[in-house]
Amino acid sequence: MSETNGTSEAHPRLRAVLDGIPTYKPGKPAAAADADGPTAYKLSSNENPFPPLPGVMERAVEAAGGFNRYPDMACTGLMEELAARFGVPVSHLATGTGSVGVAQSLLQATSGPGDEVIYAWRSFEAYPIITQVSGATAVPVPLTDGDVHDLEAMAAAITERTRLIFVCNPNNPTGTVVRRAELERFLDRVPGDVLVVLDEAYREFIRDEQVPDGIELHRDRPNVAVLRTFSKAYGLAGLRVGFAVAHEPVAAALRKTAVPFGVSQIAQEAAVASLRSESALLERVDALVGERTRVYEALVGQGWTVPETQANFVWLRLGDRTTDFAAACDRAGVVVRPFAGEGVRVTIGETEANDLFLKAAEEFRKEL
Ligand SMILES: Cc1ncc(COP(=O)(O)O)c(C=O)c1O
Repeated sequence: MSETNGTSEAHPRLRAVLDGIPTYKPGKPAAAADADGPTAYKLSSNENPFPPLPGVMERAVEAAGGFNRYPDMACTGLMEELAARFGVPVSHLATGTGSVGVAQSLLQATSGPGDEVIYAWRSFEAYPIITQVSGATAVPVPLTDGDVHDLEAMAAAITERTRLIFVCNPNNPTGTVVRRAELERFLDRVPGDVLVVLDEAYREFIRDEQVPDGIELHRDRPNVAVLRTFSKAYGLAGLRVGFAVAHEPVAAALRKTAVPFGVSQIAQEAAVASLRSESALLERVDALVGERTRVYEALVGQGWTVPETQANFVWLRLGDRTTDFAAACDRAGVVVRPFAGEGVRVTIGETEANDLFLKAAEEFRKEL
């Protein structure tokens, strides 16, 4: 056999755009509980610390009995439930394997080589990855000094090549929000043929009444798509189900670009059960918001500068102390999410976990 027909020297040719794409770094898992050591808590992935609600669990277990079959590809039951819950036609909905799956479909539907995708930076770390995979050019726009989206600068970055703009509200990892007046002003400046994706993965944690609901904004703006997920407030991160609300041509394009049968029947049934148990789930969200206030105030009391957060996490800008701080938290039994050289994102978790984190932060503060 020659060297070029499948032996050691030859490699399948991969797309050049894959070079240099950062790999997605998932939040580090908590270390296995050690009988003698402290319990380790995972505050690194913005998950919901509450276990599944009993009704939701039952529905998922029941659905598991049929997993020899493919799921309902159209997610009919879930689409109907979502349409009723959010007052939108089914034709404005598309589901996917988590909202990140839907975001990837949005890129496939709009952007390719030669096109530009604008997003704030730092923001959700999947944006640069999925943009580069699409072949489009990433145009990151730095956050303001207050760690908020700089919508003026983002509007100024629009060119005739721009196809999609992400606005992450609240922003991951800073927790900061953009409010109605500034967002509407921005949307008014975006050309109608550019899609604006309002990523509202943490929508349910918002208590600032000036933050608009993207689904309401989308109604009379055909170039706005909204991403929502069952992974955060609804506690279904492991089941991978999210959705978009968008006008018909965009939602239809999403249904074309989605991975066929991507959302399992277990996920579909659990999502429907979650929507029907919304009041119980939202009570848990209220409890987390209460914890968020407690953690935020304690950190400010310790002397930290913390951007006001409307999500289920807090952001500490630690610069070159980031890695040391994350290691100190590890030793204290809480795993946080460091972004080396920038800062640490800490999910609001169980009360005990938040206490351990606050204690570690207090100790570290004394050394600064
Ligand atoms: C801003 C933002 N969008 C989307 C996602 C993706 O969530 P999922 O794919 O689980 O719906 C995340 C998850 O961390 C996120 O922070």
